[in-house]
Amino acid sequence: MAANKTLLMLPGDGIGPEVMREVRRIIEWMDRRRSVTFRIEEGLVGGAAIDAEGTPCSDATVARAKAADAVLFGSVGGPKWDSQPFENRPELGVLRLRKELGLFANLRPALVLNPLVDASSLKPDVVRGVDIMVVRESTGGIYFGEPRGIETMPDGKRRGVDTEVYTEDEIARVARVGFDLARKRRGKMTSVEKANVMQSGRLWRAVVGEIGRAEYPDVQLEHMYADNCAMQLCSRPKQFDVILGSNLFGDLLSDLAAALTGSLGMLPSATLGAVDATSGKRHALYEPVHGSAPDIAGKGIANPCAQILSFAMLLRWSFGMEEDAALLETAVEKVLGGGLRTADIMQTGMARVGTGVMGEAVMRELEKLT
Ligand code: NAI
Ligand code: MG
Repeated sequence: MAANKTLLMLPGDGIGPEVMREVRRIIEWMDRRRSVTFRIEEGLVGGAAIDAEGTPCSDATVARAKAADAVLFGSVGGPKWDSQPFENRPELGVLRLRKELGLFANLRPALVLNPLVDASSLKPDVVRGVDIMVVRESTGGIYFGEPRGIETMPDGKRRGVDTEVYTEDEIARVARVGFDLARKRRGKMTSVEKANVMQSGRLWRAVVGEIGRAEYPDVQLEHMYADNCAMQLCSRPKQFDVILGSNLFGDLLSDLAAALTGSLGMLPSATLGAVDATSGKRHALYEPVHGSAPDIAGKGIANPCAQILSFAMLLRWSFGMEEDAALLETAVEKVLGGGLRTADIMQTGMARVGTGVMGEAVMRELEKLT
């Protein structure tokens, strides 16, 4: 089994440490009941790290993240650090980790759990059973392309510039992550771009198509314009399995897909790097989609599910522990099916509980399932 895997936990700020505590509880349960031993290290990131070390992510933390088998990240930021200079903001902690670990593929599942079908803004019939994985390229594209900046023109007016740049290698490596996922899921991948109006989009479509034909003939590949994909996500979301997109389109479409599921407090994510040819190891960071939620921090009411489900993704993607990952996901769904709700997903007729009770209920459900 997965003994001696090292896990670096970076709870961060606000509700980060509160929801991470519930993951700790589950890990302790797994140690006792599933004979899996993790070596857990804890580190500082974000505002907590600024306070203690003067920087949102120290070199030492980067080194520990590189040495670990996986990183479980909480969330960073809060009003306390709003006056920090831009180059030293808590949010740069996670950006630095993504960059240093070369995490180029961001995986954002949008899964509509049966008990939460009514929490969606769309009709239950439209979203029931939706299970989409958005794969977003996360180190290239228009957020990083050169030239960029705001410049003053000869006529004295300002001009803002961003550049969309993708090399074929950048497209190919993230496409392979998408294809591999599709193969393990329902065998379909929708690759989105704007090949009709963008050159980088034309290359995107060509490269994804070539890889699909050469390496993944068993996966059904569909190309779709990003704007059409946005529309289809709202009208017929069940047609999608894996959606692959650039940094920009993946950002927009993953937020849109997430909205189908109802609550920020339920959404996990993973960001993966390349598989190292010699060690076979792949850097990866797992984190909830939500931030540090300063408005509810310290109140014990945050929903721990997004953090718990991020840990389930970690078990699956970094440790190959599919069975345990699925067990944890089932436990969360059962707890919701039993009527427990944190405030963010509260529905009439359900029982409102806090962070700790929710985490404990997941553990009790695990106990029942095993
Ligand atoms: P946020 O995600 O922290 O909160 C948005 C709203 O959702 C708030 O009303 C919050 O109470 C609620 N919420 C979020 N997670 C919840 C949970 N688990 N349970 C119940 N309710 C939950 O986003 P916001 O307010 O825009 O940002 C707050 C701080 O977090 C900022 O400093 C921001 O920069 C940072 N942030 C950090 C991220 C990260 O660490 N990766 C991602 C997004 C924001
Ligand atoms: Mg976004």
